[in-house]
Amino acid sequence: MFLRSITKSTIKKRVSKQIKEELDEDMARLRRMLHSVTKGDADAVRRRLQNRDEARILDLACGACNEAEALTDFVAELKGGGEKKIKLTGMDMRAREIADAQRRFGGRKILEETGVEKEFDFLTGDASKLDAHGEMGDDFDLVFLRHQNYWNADKTWEEIFDQALGKVGDDGRLIITSYFDKEHALALKAIQRLGGELIKTEFNEETRELMTPGKSVDRHVAVFRRKD
Ligand SMILES: C[S@@+](CC[C@H](N)C(=O)[O-])C[C@H]1O[C@@H](n2cnc3c(N)ncnc32)[C@H](O)[C@@H]1O
Repeated sequence: MFLRSITKSTIKKRVSKQIKEELDEDMARLRRMLHSVTKGDADAVRRRLQNRDEARILDLACGACNEAEALTDFVAELKGGGEKKIKLTGMDMRAREIADAQRRFGGRKILEETGVEKEFDFLTGDASKLDAHGEMGDDFDLVFLRHQNYWNADKTWEEIFDQALGKVGDDGRLIITSYFDKEHALALKAIQRLGGELIKTEFNEETRELMTPGKSVDRHVAVFRRKD
């Protein structure tokens, strides 16, 4: 009995260590992927960021927002030298995931090594109805949708894409990632139909395969600007 409980707790520890390692690797790959996909397009965004006291990121349908640090680091790196304040607002309809994100990242902090000031705020809500959240404002530098789910509920996701585009400032960017080839292709079409101009789409050579055939982490990434 005692031996069995030791084994159980050891297995549990090993599994959570493995999950954490995979997550850390996913986030390192996500950062490289974001830099790669924005490489040819970074100047306009950089100019915009340099004129902003605070860079603002909106992460919609963010779940537990594992990407919170990777996204804010990416924007801080893009903004370059000088004082840096980065604010990320994350939203998802699942209250438990949002509470988890708030517990892990929520609030304000200043990074000792770089002096970057980061603020994270997480809201439970319906990303297809952002008008109900006037407090979040608009004119975001980056609107992000990781592992969008268009395939599952196309009408809802069209509304989410539409609302997301409405939150992108001039010279700001909308970035999406997808788990599946077909879902990515469908989302690209929908976003362009809704007024997004596709700047670049890329297959992530470093994507991590998952159990479901054809599904992998951040398999594709695409960057859009809002058409005038
Ligand atoms: C595939 S998961 C991706 C979660 C997270 N971005 C990630 O990459 O781990 C899709 C997410 O969309 C959220 N979602 C679906 N419809 C939504 C809506 N109308 N408003 C807000 N979130 C929604 C779900 O709750 C879920 O967390």
